[in-house]
Amino acid sequence: MKLFDVYPLYNVTPEKGEGVYVYDEKGQKYLDLYGGHAVISIGHAHPTYVERITEQVNKLGFYSNAIQNPLQVELAEKLGRLSNCEEYNLFLCNSGAEANENALKLASFHTNKKRVIAFKNAFHGRTSAAVAATDNGAINAPINNQHSVTTFLPFNQLHSLDYELAFGDVCAVIIEPIQGVGGLDEPTTEFLQGVQQLCKKYNVVLILDEIQSGYGRSGKFFAFQHHDIEPDIITVAKGMGNGFPIGGVLIHPRFEAKYGMLGTTFGGNHLACAAALAVLEVIENEKLIDNVNEISAYFIEKAKKIKSLQKLKGRGLMLGMEFEQNVSEIRKELIYEKKIFTGGSSNKNLLRILPPLTIGKHHIDTFLNSLSDVLKNQNL
Ligand SMILES: Cc1ncc(COP(=O)(O)O)c(C=O)c1O
Repeated sequence: MKLFDVYPLYNVTPEKGEGVYVYDEKGQKYLDLYGGHAVISIGHAHPTYVERITEQVNKLGFYSNAIQNPLQVELAEKLGRLSNCEEYNLFLCNSGAEANENALKLASFHTNKKRVIAFKNAFHGRTSAAVAATDNGAINAPINNQHSVTTFLPFNQLHSLDYELAFGDVCAVIIEPIQGVGGLDEPTTEFLQGVQQLCKKYNVVLILDEIQSGYGRSGKFFAFQHHDIEPDIITVAKGMGNGFPIGGVLIHPRFEAKYGMLGTTFGGNHLACAAALAVLEVIENEKLIDNVNEISAYFIEKAKKIKSLQKLKGRGLMLGMEFEQNVSEIRKELIYEKKIFTGGSSNKNLLRILPPLTIGKHHIDTFLNSLSDVLKNQNL
């Protein structure tokens, strides 16, 4: 059997990871400024993470959600405390798309309505409701019937949102506080606060998609916390498990749970909880959010000196470097010549920087010096 060929691949085969580095089959070392697409939060093969998962798999890897699992309770308590969202309730699942799927379903159950408002360039995942709320027709199949269920609006236009919500058929507004795949654009604080007010006025559920921006990556636990708002639902995944598949839906206590309303076989299993608990423990003990802020400030200060850089977007360690031209050749030279992984986005001129949150200043120096060489080689 062959693989279903849906991914254009770089010709690199990572076999081992350690901290902010990955190593290929020949032992070649690569600096990871991509974090496996914003997934690696506490670094590759962190000893606490390896120990917690090893210990757990030796005891019990999985059992069903029909029995008690105290690890889920411990995870909910710890996540509530570290994120300052203690009053929310947690539903555990396996991925970002699944988290958004459940959030949208919950909003629809709660309001008994079905239209969704999402935003231009949004990416919310590839399952049914999540992909319908994703502004990319190419990944929506006819079965997802995007246009009958989602309306895409521009950021920062409250009057357009007010106009749409006034129809009275909307269950949810879903928004990324910093767009990931879309290219690091952000709504303003004024807009986000206005969205919250309008959602309250029209009894619409406000979902903050923190799948990429959450877990400290923006310099606060959640990126919406830069804007003083209180979402009805928050979705998380990526950095939550540092690579172990886990997602979560943080649900305001206003939503009433009913048996059978949501469910999953694998979500919140013992092994996933052990991974997620290790991640939170490391974020707390190693003060990684402070590190994000310190390294981010250092990066921004130094990156500003690059003459061909048009714009620096994003926050914390979720950054985008925008150039005048397509960055694909820059990324290729960085990976093949300089042995540095970086990310791309739907904005072809944007280099995405999504390193493990443990990264240090000397790694940033290595990257920026290498990038300057590459830009010089390419006469940029
Ligand atoms: C903001 C956002 N939401 C949802 C998703 C989907 O997550 P997953 O690929 O885990 O389904 C992603 C993935 O890139 C994302 O960046």
